[in-house]
Amino acid sequence: MKIIKVKSYEEMSRKAADIIGAQVILKPNCVIGLATGSTPVGTYRNLIEDNEKGKLDFSAVTTFNLDEYVKLDVSSPQSYRYFMNDNLFNHINIDKENNTFVPNGCAKDLVAEGEAYDAKIKAYGGIDLQLLGIGVDGHIGFNEPDEVFTAPTHEVVLDESTIEANARFFSCADEVPKTAITMGMKSIMQAKKILFIANGKNKKEITEKAFFGPITPAVPASILQLHPDVTVIISEE
Ligand code: PGA
Repeated sequence: MKIIKVKSYEEMSRKAADIIGAQVILKPNCVIGLATGSTPVGTYRNLIEDNEKGKLDFSAVTTFNLDEYVKLDVSSPQSYRYFMNDNLFNHINIDKENNTFVPNGCAKDLVAEGEAYDAKIKAYGGIDLQLLGIGVDGHIGFNEPDEVFTAPTHEVVLDESTIEANARFFSCADEVPKTAITMGMKSIMQAKKILFIANGKNKKEITEKAFFGPITPAVPASILQLHPDVTVIISEE
């Protein structure tokens, strides 16, 4: 594990974009796993800038997002498909229609949707670089604390702490969907490289637990201790 300590959110975002950019330069048709939430927004802003300046070309890149709320239409600004289009895909030269994937939370059969999502990741040769944030409860994607690590892409019941944390994107906590579909630990752990970013005092304790505490599904991110190529960028803020 490589830990990069930086001073600010801006520095974290720049460094994360540099690492994603390096991956795109190394392998122009790479597969990148992407995350939503407040943490990666600055990273995406930097990638947009680099693309605008002609430093990065996303035309052959494929992306797979970690998760999506269940039964929230993609036209809703709170959906993760909407978030990705708005914060990244609409502003870079990626083939949004054909090369960007987000699990379909409106699928009738979420088990089949999960299986198809993992099969698609496999068909693309797996994820070259997976970007991850962390929830205050230690989740990665929406893999919430549990008694076991769950391997496939699957439906989850969101923790109260997650609903509370994400209520800021909705008009009230009651509007936050109670369930979601998330990439499971298999597709995450089989990514060739992991790029983990964390910022803010509320992430300090859980990030320490994740990387220096016991490996346990009670702290889902702790599974990353077993991954051979993890870069952690953590802001002193
Ligand atoms: P945040 O969410 O970036 O909005 O803090 C991270 C997460 O829940 O994984």
